[in-house]
Amino acid sequence: MTTRIGDEAPDFTAETTEGTISFHEWLGDGWGVLFSHPRDFTPVCTTELGTVAKLKPEFDKRNTKVLALSVDPVDAHGKWAQDIEETQGQAPNFPLIGDEGKKVADLYDMIHPNASDTQTVRSVFIIGPDKKIKLNLTYPASTGRNFQEILRVIDSLQLTAKHKVATPADWQQGEDVIITPAVSDEEAQERFPGFNAVKPYLRYTKQPTG
Ligand code: BEZ
Repeated sequence: MTTRIGDEAPDFTAETTEGTISFHEWLGDGWGVLFSHPRDFTPVCTTELGTVAKLKPEFDKRNTKVLALSVDPVDAHGKWAQDIEETQGQAPNFPLIGDEGKKVADLYDMIHPNASDTQTVRSVFIIGPDKKIKLNLTYPASTGRNFQEILRVIDSLQLTAKHKVATPADWQQGEDVIITPAVSDEEAQERFPGFNAVKPYLRYTKQPTG
């Protein structure tokens, strides 16, 4: 099944390293990141899971739960966790789905048969409190992801959900943002006094707070 930005994130129940999870219920009213990796006991995946574990406080700060998946069984995830701790300095501190039946992988189109019939690609879904897909990224097995970028997108999504702004290329927390085109100059003057119009369609303002 193809899931696109704006679609409801398919709900599921799955066995994980932290017990059975009903996805929507588990997400509650916060944000979520669901990501797949190809296999346990593989090098790039080992670095990725350690990286996400070390970044867990950053996801927590953003009221965002993290859930990983591969088609390996839960007990393999458990054994692999020891290697991740030994080599990366931190064992996974978030649940890993054991998706041997490929139920969740199929729901989220995480198996791309022309890449591999048997392994998931590196998919990332960011899901909002409304249970809608906010971002959908796919990386090949050979490229480990940049999870700082995932945090950056969450910052942008959380900001733009509250204010009538968008974030420019390479934006980082605290930098100037762009006033969305749907906002008239009159409204912009009220909401963002002193905004900087470089072009009529390119208007910068300080990052709103609150
Ligand atoms: C890895 O995690 O290192 C990996 C997994 C599958 C294919 C290639 C690399």
